[in-house]
Amino acid sequence: MPARCLVIQVLACDTTDAMRRAYLAADPRADVVELRLDLVRNLDLDRLLSARGKPKLATVRSRQQGGGARPADREALLRRALEAGVEYLDLEFGEHDQALLKGQGRARRILSYHDFNGTPADLQALHREMRQDAGEALVKIVTFADAASDLLRMRDLLRSAAPGSLVAFCMGAKGIPSRILAPLWGSAALYAPARGAADSAPGQVPLEDLFDLYRVDRIGPGTRLLGVLGFPIGHSLSPRVHNAALGALDLDYRYLPLEARTMAEFLPLLSELRLSGLSVTLPHKETILPHLDALDDSARRIGAVNTVIKIWNRLEGFNTDAEAGVAPLRSRRTLQGAHAAVLGAGGAARALVHGLMQEGARVTLFNRTPSRARDLARSSGARSLPWSRLRGFRADVLVNATSVGMAPDIDRTPVPASWIASPVVYDIIYNPAETRLLREARARGAEVIGGLEMFVAQAAAQFELFTGRAAPLEVMHRAAQGEQPSPPARRRRR
Ligand code: ATR
Repeated sequence: MPARCLVIQVLACDTTDAMRRAYLAADPRADVVELRLDLVRNLDLDRLLSARGKPKLATVRSRQQGGGARPADREALLRRALEAGVEYLDLEFGEHDQALLKGQGRARRILSYHDFNGTPADLQALHREMRQDAGEALVKIVTFADAASDLLRMRDLLRSAAPGSLVAFCMGAKGIPSRILAPLWGSAALYAPARGAADSAPGQVPLEDLFDLYRVDRIGPGTRLLGVLGFPIGHSLSPRVHNAALGALDLDYRYLPLEARTMAEFLPLLSELRLSGLSVTLPHKETILPHLDALDDSARRIGAVNTVIKIWNRLEGFNTDAEAGVAPLRSRRTLQGAHAAVLGAGGAARALVHGLMQEGARVTLFNRTPSRARDLARSSGARSLPWSRLRGFRADVLVNATSVGMAPDIDRTPVPASWIASPVVYDIIYNPAETRLLREARARGAEVIGGLEMFVAQAAAQFELFTGRAAPLEVMHRAAQGEQPSPPARRRRR
């Protein structure tokens, strides 16, 4: 990370005491602590500002600016903070802050612009206008990423600005990569709350994650990027699991959440970011096919990919789902000749059925929409039965490949408990780790297998395709179970 990129820890506490405590406990990696004064209900400014510690940035957003201050109180509060000697002062572009911007006081000014609804069409024009007002102040432009390509516009803006003069990134789920890459692109600062602290803007990445997971201080021009493409992607475990593994092996890759609703939206990122591989999830596992130059056997048979490798400009598609889907079963029993009942006929079911057939299992499909089950049966060589036949149906293993029971609908289950008759029940849902189906199957004496095993197996196979290195399975398992990464050991800078 360029030395000039300030790390600003954002505090959005609602009481003076809480903010004072948080300030005194600021992350050692923060250079500056931003105090969102407008969010404190019982503000005792003297008490807060008398705390000794990191340089302070005083910020007061009015209600029109997405904050909590009455416009009438805002300027007075900023002025008092300035007089009390804060080191940085946030002023809002377009407000009547001219007097504060150019006035007395040694605080470094930051002239900021926030758009919580979108990214203006002409960012360069906005920047020019702000620069004219800003004088010596840092300019900060933060907008909501409506489309994935807004990231590229933010990158281009940063690259065109004088070094150290502009802070810029995008908010929202689609903006997350810009929070991680902004220092590389030349942003003069990054903003992050501590983990578990109140958020003050959408898409914030905790400071601990920026450093311990994304190793933001060691991203350089040679860093290769990976990511998970999907919609929505906010709750994906993949960035956590892959970055933990990359960090454990000290590999100079970073794995980003890349949210895009359509392939058309994503294509500019594919060609312009330094991506060397992708995990692909819903809804793009099939829609990405026309954009690929080659497919492996598994992807071709299943008609969907979950992994893409980019070598120069050639895109190769793979599917690690089938192999990963059967791995948790195969490690417990032989599948040759075993009888599996599979619920579902979507993409996940298709990969699983192919994996099971490949292992020599006999598969019976059940699906809410019978025609989809029949189609999958026909193309895979399995058989299908009507949903009603599931009652008391005994196979060696019952597999749930529907989305029923997945968070947030964790109280749902695809089959009534009394229908479960198979001795092994496997649910490929990994969130929650134990679904209602598994809980009920366990209570009926079945052996149960949760989806985290499959998740880690497919991620490990992807990791090996991405990096050519053996995946650190233990690390990936622990990350999938929610263990936080520890700070990377201080290593020689590359
Ligand atoms: P994926 O690619 O993750 O499998 P999908 O193609 O949308 O996603 O498939 C979801 C599967 O869950 C389908 O088998 C779907 O059944 P339909 O084919 O009838 O849509 C199944 N599913 C989703 N909601 C369901 C519900 N409430 N009850 C039963 N099955 C359901």
